[in-house]
Amino acid sequence: MPTVLIIDDDASVLKLLDFAMGQAGFDVMLAGDGETGLEQARAHPPDLAIVDVMMPDLDGYEVCRRLRADPRTANTAIIVLTARAQAVDRQAALEAGADEYLVKPVMPDELITLAREVLARPRAAAEAPRRGRVVTVFSLRGGVGVTSLAVNLAVAFAHLRKDEVSLLDMNALAGHVALMLNLQPQLTLANLLAQGPEPARETVEKCLVRHSAGIRILAAPPQPMMPPAGSGPTVRHTVSLLKSGFPYTVADAASTFDEATKALLTASDLVVIVVAAEVQALQTTITSLPALAALGHEENNLWLVLNQHTPQPALPAQMVEKALKRPLRARIPYEPAAAQAIQRGVPLILHKPTSPMAAAVAKLAYQIDKHLSY
Ligand SMILES: Nc1ncnc2c1ncn2[C@@H]1O[C@H](COP(=O)(O)OP(=O)(O)O)[C@@H](O)[C@H]1O
Ligand SMILES: [Mg+2]
Repeated sequence: MPTVLIIDDDASVLKLLDFAMGQAGFDVMLAGDGETGLEQARAHPPDLAIVDVMMPDLDGYEVCRRLRADPRTANTAIIVLTARAQAVDRQAALEAGADEYLVKPVMPDELITLAREVLARPRAAAEAPRRGRVVTVFSLRGGVGVTSLAVNLAVAFAHLRKDEVSLLDMNALAGHVALMLNLQPQLTLANLLAQGPEPARETVEKCLVRHSAGIRILAAPPQPMMPPAGSGPTVRHTVSLLKSGFPYTVADAASTFDEATKALLTASDLVVIVVAAEVQALQTTITSLPALAALGHEENNLWLVLNQHTPQPALPAQMVEKALKRPLRARIPYEPAAAQAIQRGVPLILHKPTSPMAAAVAKLAYQIDKHLSY
């Protein structure tokens, strides 16, 4: 008898589905919230999980991500139930790891048919695919230290995990990751974006340049370009390939909100939003938060990080926090040697490992790793 775990905060839905799925021959387990559901799933991994999206505390997308991240439940089939019917919601559900998506109100017959269909699909072998984490560094205000943080975070993750990490430069107009690492790549993001929606794994691998710090870089194009229409699926596919190959993928996002950037942000497990202590950066951050939340991110996975990129901040950190109405997850201090490190093409964390900035980035990497290692 296939086992199904239904996670929904609406008791009437639980009751209805308990009855219907039971009648249809399923062995039913019920949970009224995400945490309880995850505990049950770990204790008795079900064949299928049916997960509501809108729940207090842990939402359904987060439940999906955690089910997928845990080897005990990585192969569980997942159907997401939601009251929202936008295409972006469907995409968010699939990105989070769901197999299928059904809009509420749910007709039990429809759900049972879908459940049988999903369970009949061939699933990955017992060994779950390796699912790495994607951390994107982002700011709609340019020049506040996004690239510096992305490069140094990638090196910090490689060090922390003692494993190779991939680093993606998504600044198609003018990316500086290769410059900061003193690399002259032959193949770049431009080659990848020319591949259509599903670049092959070998192609993606060919486009990655190796750096001795334990990172593999997908560099930005040598000439400015606009990501062509239809880049969203290419980015999504590339990120999912990188996810299965590296424990961490760090992305340096462009300061824009185009299709490619949105696909990247949606596919990220955590977004580091870089804020500078100046009025313009603050205003830009405040206005971009709702747009990031609309991509399906919980507040919990949108980390505000204050980077002091100039010797004298225009505003005190407390004022920044107050204006954002949310705590800063980290504060990166000003580092006079940052510019020199860039000129030499050596990440600051290697150039001056004992500097306060290097220590702050290493600590941030550690905190992110702790937060994401569920
Ligand atoms: N914490 C810091 N201390 C000193 N300089 C910094 C710091 N962070 C960034 N910078 C400097 O700010 C400039 C912009 O940084 P960059 O990482 O290129 O920003 P972005 O990618 O947001 O445009 C660079 O010259 C860099 O050296
Ligand atoms: Mg940059």
